[in-house]
Amino acid sequence: MALDLFSPVKLGSILLNNRMVMAPLTRNRSSETGVPQAMNVTYYEQRATAGLIITEATPISAMAHGYPALPGIYSGEQVVGWRKVTDAVHAKGSKIVLQLWHVGRISHPSLLPNGALPVAPSAIKPAGKAFTYEGLVDYVTPRALDASELPELIKDYAHATQCALDAGFDGVEIHAANGYLLDQFLRDGSNKRTDNYGGSFENRTRLLLEVTEAVVAVAGADKVGLRLSPANPFNDMHDSHPQSLFNYVVTALNPFNLAYLHIVEGGIHGGGEAAPFDFSELRALYQHSYMANLGFNKQTGNAAIAAGEADCIAFGVPFIANPDLVERYKTDAALNEADSTTFYGGNEKGYIDYPTL
Ligand SMILES: Cc1cc2nc3c(=O)[nH]c(=O)nc-3n(C[C@H](O)[C@H](O)[C@H](O)COP(=O)(O)O)c2cc1C
Repeated sequence: MALDLFSPVKLGSILLNNRMVMAPLTRNRSSETGVPQAMNVTYYEQRATAGLIITEATPISAMAHGYPALPGIYSGEQVVGWRKVTDAVHAKGSKIVLQLWHVGRISHPSLLPNGALPVAPSAIKPAGKAFTYEGLVDYVTPRALDASELPELIKDYAHATQCALDAGFDGVEIHAANGYLLDQFLRDGSNKRTDNYGGSFENRTRLLLEVTEAVVAVAGADKVGLRLSPANPFNDMHDSHPQSLFNYVVTALNPFNLAYLHIVEGGIHGGGEAAPFDFSELRALYQHSYMANLGFNKQTGNAAIAAGEADCIAFGVPFIANPDLVERYKTDAALNEADSTTFYGGNEKGYIDYPTL
């Protein structure tokens, strides 16, 4: 029988009951100290028929924040909060990994300790507005990280990984997509450095590989996934040679034998026009498990899996509106419509009140 979305699969050491993955989705509903709340537990528990849940992007340190009411993964209190989420998801038979996040320049002093300037590979202000507790405000010009600060940053990733394991996660996903810190180092629109972390593909990929090595040293490669978005212009991102850059990145990741590589195959909604990119080249270069995302539905997801173009599919917006998406796809039931006005922040409405079948 041909494989489809409902076939089990093993990603590294993580055994999934099916190939439907809940994509990482920022929802801005944690406490101001970054502790998951009771409604966050309910939200993830409701979606625990997915083969795998990837949490919302989660800051690895106080300096990694860039939006209001994000959960963190660096304090004891946060670990205790997340433990309630992982216990609830595991009790329902699903698996859950935490997405490790540093936003880099996509932040604002009002969200950072002592009003600090956001940090980035280079002091280049992104176009657009920061989303703060006071509403939308202009971005500021970030401070370029000194190379001497990077070992500490890498340690923050390792520490957050240990916190995630302590909280009971099945693994972690390194967020290197969508214009945040690691992606800012990769692409030459945001990285103008002249040291060992800028210029050549090798130099721009260096931080990503160092972070991956540190995270793998803590969790083991079979518990580590990694997300890239090679063509996504969201957060004012661009590169002069995206195809050859990301072909290089993916080739450099092969030796790690990670649990999975997660690719956003285009531009996410509202981010502008995606760069031309041939994702089949990446798939051909990558030698391990491949997770595809962006605009998939049951039919296109099944087709990609049957054709061997992906090992599993991550669904974002469909899982916001349909906690029982797996059941709905299995039975060809109609889907709930997502309400985008309640995506970011607010209360239970548009979060844990979408009806199940
Ligand atoms: C409300 C919302 C929040 C998101 N938050 C994240 C995030 O925290 N991390 C991330 O990597 N992508 C994030 N994304 C992108 C999604 O993971 C996904 O790539 C996007 O929704 C496209 O998949 P879809 O067409 O299945 O919805 C977010 C998207 C939405 C709509």
